[in-house]
Amino acid sequence: MSGFGNEFATEALPGALPAHRNSPQRVAYGLYAEQLSGTAFSAPRGQNRRSWLYRIRPAAQHGAFTRIDNGRLASDFEHGAPSPNQMRWSPLPLPDAPTDFVDGLVTMAGNGASAAMSGCAIHLYAANQSMHGRYFYSGDGELLIVPQQGRLALATEFGLLEVEPQEIAVIPRGVRFAVTLPDGEARGYVCENFGALLRLPDLGPIGSNGLANPRDFLTPVARYEDLDGDFELVAKFGGNLWRADIGHSPLDVVAWHGNYAPYKYDLRHFNTIGSVSYDHPDPSIFLVLHAPSDTPGVDTLDFVIFPPRWLAGEDTFRPPWFHRNVASEFMGLIHGAYDAKAEGFVPGGASLHNCMSGHGPDAATFDKASSADTSRPHRVTDTMAFMFETRNPIVATGQASNSPQLQANYQDCWAGIQHRFDPAKR
Ligand SMILES: [Fe+2]
Repeated sequence: MSGFGNEFATEALPGALPAHRNSPQRVAYGLYAEQLSGTAFSAPRGQNRRSWLYRIRPAAQHGAFTRIDNGRLASDFEHGAPSPNQMRWSPLPLPDAPTDFVDGLVTMAGNGASAAMSGCAIHLYAANQSMHGRYFYSGDGELLIVPQQGRLALATEFGLLEVEPQEIAVIPRGVRFAVTLPDGEARGYVCENFGALLRLPDLGPIGSNGLANPRDFLTPVARYEDLDGDFELVAKFGGNLWRADIGHSPLDVVAWHGNYAPYKYDLRHFNTIGSVSYDHPDPSIFLVLHAPSDTPGVDTLDFVIFPPRWLAGEDTFRPPWFHRNVASEFMGLIHGAYDAKAEGFVPGGASLHNCMSGHGPDAATFDKASSADTSRPHRVTDTMAFMFETRNPIVATGQASNSPQLQANYQDCWAGIQHRFDPAKR
């Protein structure tokens, strides 16, 4: 089913959705009706998100939760010191020991707090085992999953979403799911958004089309498991992992309707917009989804991509420019090469440029682009980079700051930029 934020209705058995709209609690097949709300009950209509789930057992039915080891998840971003250093990491290695999606999560950075309902946690994942009899949800935020290597099959309460690299998936806060790995191994990025739900940006003078189009967002159809067994429900809540015994699969929703549901999007459908005369628009032109703050025009989180595109600006320096920014930027590379860096930033890697830390093209890219012929358009191919950009400074976790993947020599990429100033030569 396609569309963004639409009111969907789907049933895996005919008539599982209440036929009489005035009696949503009078349910067929012995199902239970349950509402899942993702926004305040009284949120304005345009932002209100809730779904009605018609399920075999209510979500309340499971054993008591007890704390388990948090593994490599971290959640305290308020006591760490954000660094003004530019930071870059090589890709997270795939694990040797059997590791599923949940155990394979490593928190790299973040800001804000789930309890404050603002900010985000940025994780990487590397996994080589499917989740069997194990189900997960985050009560802390919605999960924006960006696969970089290997497909993911996300079996959720709402149905199945299959995603491959260059696609993304969003699992709403609270939605239970299990991840299987069709390719045996998988690696990627996750942004856990504590703030307002991700949404499409307004388009202003761009008009009614462009950037990510609503019809390209896909939401699953209902699919259920009626399975009994000694299963485990893992919750991330308050930054910690908890587990409970559950005697059945929680993926037992036979029908649902509403507008709070997982979705996927193929980044290759993004309608990239850029200059056809001179210079650059700001990188906000690459915005896919954003989480607005209470301040108009300022987001707590932007998800931005840099896809293949034509560069047509004349008399300009075409790659992303040198800049400092009030926002903080965590970047990743899904595929190919990024046009502002000649080397060092590779698929699966990451970089962090915090508020007002200078960054931009490396010396090799600057030299090449400065002598490029801009009288003709140039097509950037074979690339898909992205950015989680935030209003607040991003704090790298201790494990990210001490990671063997941290590139100690990252700043050297700007060391070769020459002093070219000559007041005698215009
Ligand atoms: Fe930047």
